Amino acid sequence: MVRAYNIGDLREIARRRLPKGIFEFIDRGTEDEVSLRHNRAALESMRLRPRTLVDVSARSQSIKLFGKEQAMPIAIAPTGSAGLAWYEGEIAIARAAAKAGIPFTLATGSTTAMEKVASEVGGTLWFQLYMWPDRSLSYQLIERARAAGFEGLVVTVDSPVAPGREYNLHNGFTLPFSLTRRNAIDILSHPRWLATVLARYIATSGMPRYENYPTEMKQRITALPMGRAMMLNDNLTWDDLRELRRLWPHRLMAKGILCPEDAKLAADCGADAVIVSNHGGRVVDGTRAPIEILPEVVDAVGKRIAVIVDSGFRRGTDIVKALALGAQAVLVGRATLYGVAADGEAGASRAIELLRQEIDRTLALLGCPTIPALTRECLAHYPARYSQSVPEQRRESVS
Ligand SMILES: Cc1cc2nc3c(=O)[nH]c(=O)nc-3n(C[C@H](O)[C@H](O)[C@H](O)COP(=O)(O)O)c2cc1C
Repeated sequence: MVRAYNIGDLREIARRRLPKGIFEFIDRGTEDEVSLRHNRAALESMRLRPRTLVDVSARSQSIKLFGKEQAMPIAIAPTGSAGLAWYEGEIAIARAAAKAGIPFTLATGSTTAMEKVASEVGGTLWFQLYMWPDRSLSYQLIERARAAGFEGLVVTVDSPVAPGREYNLHNGFTLPFSLTRRNAIDILSHPRWLATVLARYIATSGMPRYENYPTEMKQRITALPMGRAMMLNDNLTWDDLRELRRLWPHRLMAKGILCPEDAKLAADCGADAVIVSNHGGRVVDGTRAPIEILPEVVDAVGKRIAVIVDSGFRRGTDIVKALALGAQAVLVGRATLYGVAADGEAGASRAIELLRQEIDRTLALLGCPTIPALTRECLAHYPARYSQSVPEQRRESVS
């Protein structure tokens, strides 16, 4: 077991184990990384307001999301290419999530096929969709997800074009994976990753590639710098979300919402949830942090649909702050990626367990034994215009 006492420790172990090109793909943001840094700064700038001498001996961090009890108020965010952090990393993280009783989201751009994750893991599975220009191929993909038993569809709406991640160009890593002169030295200087990740793929299924893509596309696409996923769609509109609502029989979430107007449109299209997210600072550089936008979105649509948030969450205190502002749950992306890179399934479990302990400790120290007890009163100096408390029954009423 790795010696990690917080997510920062797992990040440091991941940094040492992974080739630089892969670590930076996971860790970094876009362009000048203003959004990346600001996500953390915004969370760190918020202050908690503990109440004392409250009996907190019967603590619980369970929540009800979409009518289902789950043991913790978090879910795993979709992260394409998690399979490069560890051999079949998606399966390792999904197993850790299932054991912890929280949902796992598999990315369209994963290097493990959705049917394999569903049959080998189980648990609560959501599928993340990047729509392709040829809509019929995307519809086939969601039909596969439905048939495989995925319970939620997370439609990512924030990426009409490829982001500007210059470090990926410098580092020379591509997907489908290929050895280049530029990445060879990096890979050779991480022999453990070479032996336990890349060599295992080569010996079994071949070079890592997008396993959810239809067979003919898998063979056709040429390797592109990581993060420049093929065929992102720049003519996606609200009509597409409406059509997905018609086609998808289970929970539908719109991921990448950054203003209340769009949250209302998503609710009008029939989405069951919005995910307030700037993709962990990986798409537009220079947005407000999702934690700053969250209360506006909760006030706009929180009584109609679930509001979930992500981007920059590394500590239990961060998660508690979002829940106090009215989020139903928080997605974590890099936290479990660092964990899986550090020690496979055990590392991902460690990341989740660290967050569980930190949330538990924070609830006790705030005098709030349960998640529904968290309100905006738990935050100090909360700007008056956002001072409306989250109605307690809202958490129960959105199912
Ligand atoms: C390596 C990596 C790959 C990602 N791939 C996807 C993806 O394929 N689709 C998507 O909607 N979001 C993707 N994201 C964004 C996450 O779903 C999530 O919004 C973000 O990681 C949250 O921020 P955090 O990493 O600070 O927790 C990715 C994030 C990372 C770090």
